[in-house]
Amino acid sequence: MLDLAQDHLPIHLTALAQRYGKIYQLNCGSTVMVVLNNSEIIREALIKKWTDFAGRPHSYTGDIVSAGGQTISLGDFSEGWKAHRRVIHKALHHSVSGSLHSVIEKQAHHLCQVLHSYGRKPVDLSEDFTVAASNVITTLTFGKTYEKASEVLQDLQGCLNKIVSLWGSPWISALDSFPLLRKLPNPPFSQLMKEVARRDELIGKHIEEFKKSDQKQGGTVTSSLLQCVAAGAVDCMKLTNVHVHMTTVDLLIGGTETTAALLNWTVAFLLHRPEVQDKVYEELRDVQHPQYSDRHRLPYLSALVAEMLRLRPVAPLAVPHRAIRNSSIAGHFIPKDTIIIPNLYGAHHDPEVWDDPYSFKPERFLEGGGGSLRTLIPFSGGIRLCLGEVVAKMEMFLFLSYLLQNFKFLPAGHEEPLPDLRGVASVVLKIKPYTVIVEPRESK
Ligand code: HEM
Repeated sequence: MLDLAQDHLPIHLTALAQRYGKIYQLNCGSTVMVVLNNSEIIREALIKKWTDFAGRPHSYTGDIVSAGGQTISLGDFSEGWKAHRRVIHKALHHSVSGSLHSVIEKQAHHLCQVLHSYGRKPVDLSEDFTVAASNVITTLTFGKTYEKASEVLQDLQGCLNKIVSLWGSPWISALDSFPLLRKLPNPPFSQLMKEVARRDELIGKHIEEFKKSDQKQGGTVTSSLLQCVAAGAVDCMKLTNVHVHMTTVDLLIGGTETTAALLNWTVAFLLHRPEVQDKVYEELRDVQHPQYSDRHRLPYLSALVAEMLRLRPVAPLAVPHRAIRNSSIAGHFIPKDTIIIPNLYGAHHDPEVWDDPYSFKPERFLEGGGGSLRTLIPFSGGIRLCLGEVVAKMEMFLFLSYLLQNFKFLPAGHEEPLPDLRGVASVVLKIKPYTVIVEPRESK
């Protein structure tokens, strides 16, 4: 329990790997967990043997946040879950095909306007990044966007953020391993229950409004899913209104704080190595309106995105998996129901794979730099691969190309320390709040 209550669990689990090896076991109450700390071992379990490790642990608190496991992210593996994921995948694909690029461009453009309005005063950009990432997801799901000051957005994001941070706290996870604790008063748990009820009220309202609006025919994820509900069984799967509701929760939680956190990390690292910004800027100078298809002629920017995904995989321990049958990993017997923790953070800092793994060096991903994209697994892999990988990669590339083409990010002041790069790890790995000066580049 003490191991699991560490304030930065990914760093702690990575340190344990140095003592106990790339695969080790932790026991917490009656729960047995196996931690995987290396890309090859993670790939063996999640990709090669995906049929053995596709499950999710059943947990008391997980059931509360996922309406009894009816989300994609926390639902256990079954034929029904597989069909559900397939339907959502298709709906997301339908909604992004053709329009994703312009949806992101529009948000990137708006973000630049907001940054221009700050002048040269030090600002904390985290909320602006959240608004931009959230608007991409709300456009894909409902065809709607919100301003930063919008009460609807503030309510929804505030509530989802609280759920994620409360659910990741040791006060709550202890309830899963020690059922007796459920009988004692637990203020964080009461708060979690309150936020889940609030979330359901807010999302329910959104879906009801959507059903009444003229958007319901359009190519959004929600319109595709509602058509499936109306059609009865699709792909052998009977989609219900609860599925539609919980899919919205999955996409908003999975797709907002992750991307926003990574943008915030990127600016912080760039303050530590300003020459990287200049190199990306030089590369972008000759590109009129950067497109995702330009990524092959923007190797430095692509390397920056890869290096950020390596150094700060924002879902550092993925989501726990469960062995659904007896199996083995790296030659070790793994009994059914063992919980598997893919330590993506550890895999990305493995000194046997990465040269100088703790240093911020985008150059490692340039030709001949030694970095290998095969060992980079920020989106995990196999049947549980992040559903939003395509969206997130395009967002990172386009948001950063707009930001670094238009601005130079400078430290908040001579006296101010540079941002602390250790971060705070819950389900999402975030940087501690910091401020930055955003200086417009002269127009080309
Ligand atoms: C930089 C951004 C992102 C990163 C690093 C990231 C990473 C991850 C990781 C590591 C997982 C866990 C996979 C596993 O269980 O092994 C995951 C799951 C998931 N992600 Fe993402 N993600 C990002 C953005 C997004 C976006 C933009 C969306 C939505 C559009 C999204 C939706 C999901 C969903 C629904 C799942 C659950 C998949 C399942 O259990 O089958 N993510 N993500």
